[in-house]
Amino acid sequence: MKIKIYPDYPTLSREAASRIGQYIATKPNAVVCIASGNTPVQVFHWLVENVRSGHLNIDRCTFVGLDEWVGIDKSNAGSCRNMMDRDFFHPLDIKESKIKFFDGMAGNLQQECDRIDQFIASHGALDVMLVGIGLNGHIAMNEPGTSFDHYSQIIDLSEETKVVGQKYFPKQTNLSRGLTLGLRHLRESKLPILMANGQKKASIIQKALTLPPTTEIPASIIQKIPHAMVLLDKEAAGLLPRPLAK
Ligand code: PGA
Repeated sequence: MKIKIYPDYPTLSREAASRIGQYIATKPNAVVCIASGNTPVQVFHWLVENVRSGHLNIDRCTFVGLDEWVGIDKSNAGSCRNMMDRDFFHPLDIKESKIKFFDGMAGNLQQECDRIDQFIASHGALDVMLVGIGLNGHIAMNEPGTSFDHYSQIIDLSEETKVVGQKYFPKQTNLSRGLTLGLRHLRESKLPILMANGQKKASIIQKALTLPPTTEIPASIIQKIPHAMVLLDKEAAGLLPRPLAK
């Protein structure tokens, strides 16, 4: 992994968008996965700006959703799909045929995982995969204890995620399971990016990047991916030892 530290969140977000844009410039039909959640909100802002200003062309890209809450409809403001619609798909008028997203309301959840895995496999692997990190070290909804070798899976959410996840919802919502891309997708993607900002992520970033990799901290898989990028703002990098935080 390669670690880059930026002075603040806006700079970090702009740089992440720029790296994604550079990748797409070399492969215009890239298959791109960018997490929903708070971390990438400004990355979406910059991607939208870059498309509108003519600096980025995403006409031939396909977009894959990272994860979704089981039992939550995409019309719900807290669903992962709804956040992506709001910040990215709708502002750029991206057609449904260009979007592959887990349906949290599907009757057959395993079929949903298979559908997304088959789509990714038909392209070899994801090109870009930008993920955040949960306070418990999860990546997407791959909770502590998840194998590093899984593709998409149905997950029983940790108690912490059920509580922290409430921040996305307008009212108290029962969260129990999720559908998520697997850590193997991250390992196999051509441009894996782990992004984190803010002081509250400093402690888990320190653990994920400095302790020996363990499935108890899913994000620690990033140490085992030589071509992975870790993009941080100063606050999230605040507890890293000097040699890593240079
Ligand atoms: P956040 O979520 O980007 O909203 O902080 C990250 C995560 O839980 O994976």
